[in-house]
Amino acid sequence: MCGIFGYIGPRFDTAEILIEGLKRLEYRGYDSAGLALYDDERLWVRKTTGKIRDLEKKLEAEAVPRSRLGIAHTRWATHGAPNDQNAHPHLDESGSIAVVHNGIIENHAALRALLEKEGHEFESETDTEVLVHLIEKFRRANDLPAALRKALGMLHGTYGIIVIDRGDPDVLVAARHGSPLVLGIGENEYFVSSDVAPLVPHTRNVIYFDDNEMVVVRRDGYRTMTLDARPVNKAIAEVDWEIEEIEKGGFPHFMLKEIHEQPETIANAMRGRMLIAEGTSRLQGLNLNLDSLRKIDRVILTACGTSWHAALVGEYLIEDLARIPVEVEYASEFRYRNPILDESTVVFLISQSGETADTLAALREAKAKGALPLGIVNVVGSTIARESAGGVYIHAGPEIGVASTKAFTAQVTVLALIALLMGRQRDLSVAEGKKILRGLLELPGKVKRVLAKNDVIETIAAQYASVGNFLYLGRGINFPVALEGALKMKEISYIHAEGYPAAEMKHGPIALIDEDMPVVVIALRDSAYEKVLSNIQEVRARHGRVIAIATEGDTEISNHADHVIELPSIHPLLSPILAVVPLQLLAYHVAVKRGCDVDQPRNLAKSVTVE
Ligand code: AGP
Repeated sequence: MCGIFGYIGPRFDTAEILIEGLKRLEYRGYDSAGLALYDDERLWVRKTTGKIRDLEKKLEAEAVPRSRLGIAHTRWATHGAPNDQNAHPHLDESGSIAVVHNGIIENHAALRALLEKEGHEFESETDTEVLVHLIEKFRRANDLPAALRKALGMLHGTYGIIVIDRGDPDVLVAARHGSPLVLGIGENEYFVSSDVAPLVPHTRNVIYFDDNEMVVVRRDGYRTMTLDARPVNKAIAEVDWEIEEIEKGGFPHFMLKEIHEQPETIANAMRGRMLIAEGTSRLQGLNLNLDSLRKIDRVILTACGTSWHAALVGEYLIEDLARIPVEVEYASEFRYRNPILDESTVVFLISQSGETADTLAALREAKAKGALPLGIVNVVGSTIARESAGGVYIHAGPEIGVASTKAFTAQVTVLALIALLMGRQRDLSVAEGKKILRGLLELPGKVKRVLAKNDVIETIAAQYASVGNFLYLGRGINFPVALEGALKMKEISYIHAEGYPAAEMKHGPIALIDEDMPVVVIALRDSAYEKVLSNIQEVRARHGRVIAIATEGDTEISNHADHVIELPSIHPLLSPILAVVPLQLLAYHVAVKRGCDVDQPRNLAKSVTVE
């Protein structure tokens, strides 16, 4: 969950290129940052605790050398506290070789002991520093690429790394195993990065690397190869994300921009995937002929965090529409519990980033046990996407805000399409299928109508910005939405919040209810409405304050709730996609009122690529 970025080319403003690139990687981690520039004589290094802007200020205070080669890094600490010494780049004792790294070196302690015995002096507490000393060790008898290969051969763990050496200033070498790496191909200039965001201002032609691959980039070209030096052909892909998609687009925060993008991103998630006349969906990315999909008799949905909440909604969708048993698993649990799988089980890996370590490990476990691993991923070319046997991209565009919003609704939309496809292969009628499709087609417009209540929700948020706790209640397919609403609130406003099935309240949580415990209740006009209404009355009887998410035209609910946020009616199975939107906005506005860093909440990173 760090960001690495490197440049080699004819331009002399490498420092500016690197800083701008780091800014687009900052959501990957932001507790310290640094860069190394080759200034035609030595490696000029500056690094600092804090965010990219702190590094930028440091550079503004001095004469930065002109340079045509450099690497940079923004960090989310795993080994060693966030401080200047532990910030990357890391150099060997002579200051000749510099490395930036994203990942974890699991055997760093043993390697450090070995290297210290050989006289290497360490400056930091990081695992990464062992790598630069290993390269130095092998560099004496090898060129830089060979020295890097030998060094990596001794590592256990994960890495996306970039290395430069003042002894060979016309080359930049990069490699990956377990962490993402992308090459940007410009006009006689090259960029290496953790992901495409920093590349788009310079080039849309990119190469995504797979594990155990490396690239040697010289001023006149590049060579892609495996870690054992076998040449490998890599296709050049074109990035279709516009740079303004990356920018905030006029919103104060990426998170608010992404919440308001949802009508479009939900539409994109289903674009070209609906066969209206047949009342079904078409998902070519599953790389399955329909027969093999028909043979699936068990589904496992596995993910982390918000994506796990989407998986919980998926369970209701697939079991209701396809009548196939579904289990939802935390990826971090699934990967270690020796699950019972076979070839008639499909395991869906749901991940916005496509790089979450636990979900990637779950994929590999599923594959090892013969199940069919399929990805439901946002980032094109990400590791989970490429290691799955197929899958469905959610097409939500870059999600920069650390708190996931548009990815959740896009994931649920795709899960609805998958459930529809599998259902129509089984007992779901064309008429029922068409109802689902009609509901999906209505969604973007109805989400827009909910977004129009932004100001109402902001007013409600202002009354709850100083509470210490929240309780979220939902039933049926909206129970996962209660969990998701609670996660949004706690991760960006730092207020403790819990989600519960509404009926569970009487089994304990009701003891918490008093005038200081606001309760958010999803109370849509569905089959559970009457029961949820009685839950609300139980809360009110104990002086709890109720924020109800209700269906437009419900005149009863306002007699029982302190605040009512109305949603347009929608097919019950699709209601989570609407019901989550006011909860996203409520959390956002409470967090803003509390002065929290909404896009980069404390202690969090956008993609958790370590265990
Ligand atoms: C969601 O708001 C969080 N940022 C986090 O729970 C996230 O959903 C989780 O880390 C999974 O990430 P992924 O979807 O990229 O795998």
